[in-house]
Amino acid sequence: MPATIRLRQPDDWHVHLRDGAMLEAVVGATARQFGRAIVMPNLQPPITTVAAAQAYGERIRRALPAGSGFQPLLTAYLTETIDPREVEAGFRQGVWVACKLYPARATTNAEAGVGDLMAITPVLETMERIGMPLLIHGEVTDPEIDIFDREAVFIERHLAPLLQRHPGLKVVLEHITTSDAVDFVRSGPPQLAATITPHHLHINRNAMFRGGLRPDFYCLPVAKRELHRLALRAAATSGDPCFFLGTDSAPHARSAKESACGCAGIFNAPYAIESYAAVFEQEGALERLEAFASEHGPRFYGLPLNPGQIILERRPHAVDERLALTDAAGAPVELVPFHAGETLTWQLV
Ligand code: NCD
Ligand code: ZN
Repeated sequence: MPATIRLRQPDDWHVHLRDGAMLEAVVGATARQFGRAIVMPNLQPPITTVAAAQAYGERIRRALPAGSGFQPLLTAYLTETIDPREVEAGFRQGVWVACKLYPARATTNAEAGVGDLMAITPVLETMERIGMPLLIHGEVTDPEIDIFDREAVFIERHLAPLLQRHPGLKVVLEHITTSDAVDFVRSGPPQLAATITPHHLHINRNAMFRGGLRPDFYCLPVAKRELHRLALRAAATSGDPCFFLGTDSAPHARSAKESACGCAGIFNAPYAIESYAAVFEQEGALERLEAFASEHGPRFYGLPLNPGQIILERRPHAVDERLALTDAAGAPVELVPFHAGETLTWQLV
């Protein structure tokens, strides 16, 4: 059993850094492990203009700990009315690197998302032409469809036809949760990839109901049956370059999670790489962690690999039940981290 793991510095290809006080409270957790992160645009209001993205990038950089080399990679939030010229201009200027597609009302701050996929055909044609990736929250929003089937139905009804219409488009199916998604992405073309979160590798849907209702394990797409979790673990640890790291760390204040209508989202940023390391070790695949965490993502996005390294030590440590963070003004923000109350074997030094 190794006592240390050295990895090329990883990147997080899907994270919610939020804004304002929450941004200030959480960005350090991501920046201490990851070189770069694809930052989700589902703010209120969402990031739909180049100017808004530039300003958000500035706010992120200002919130970083002194001396941090962390690089936020911004994304545009697709609406039915976004102008393809705006999308292209921001891409060419290097302000944003991808577009995020939220089916309207699929998740947190998705109200302004896309109801009719055909309405964004001109944007998708532009993205296909300029090589700009489309990042998809792959769930149907049809209330007739059982929540546990929403990803599989999205793939069949919407994703497969979209890929046929846009064969040159680079697509990332984000935070996959089912064996259906694993099979679809694995058998798809090389310009199709998927991110996998640490929580979907660790928990199945029972976690939400163990001994009572557990809002800290509620996220979207919702965790599925055990057979799906096992398929995700096999995919992540397989070495297949179409699967890479994306935490979907999605902080909500504890009060917003533990409420009559609790928010979806799991805050896994504080121990993300340790959480993935646990999975890879349990699967006997530690030697494939670096490719998943640090190589497949940049290669898909056409970006250089990070030059630096991180070190994990075998040093079991208990994860706090709650994190009392403070924003720059000193105001408290209470969050429950993923793995709260558990012991993690690996620790980032
Ligand atoms: C995300 C959020 O809170 O912004 N929530 C979540 O459960 N993952 C939105 C999303 O990625 O679906
Ligand atoms: Zn997300």
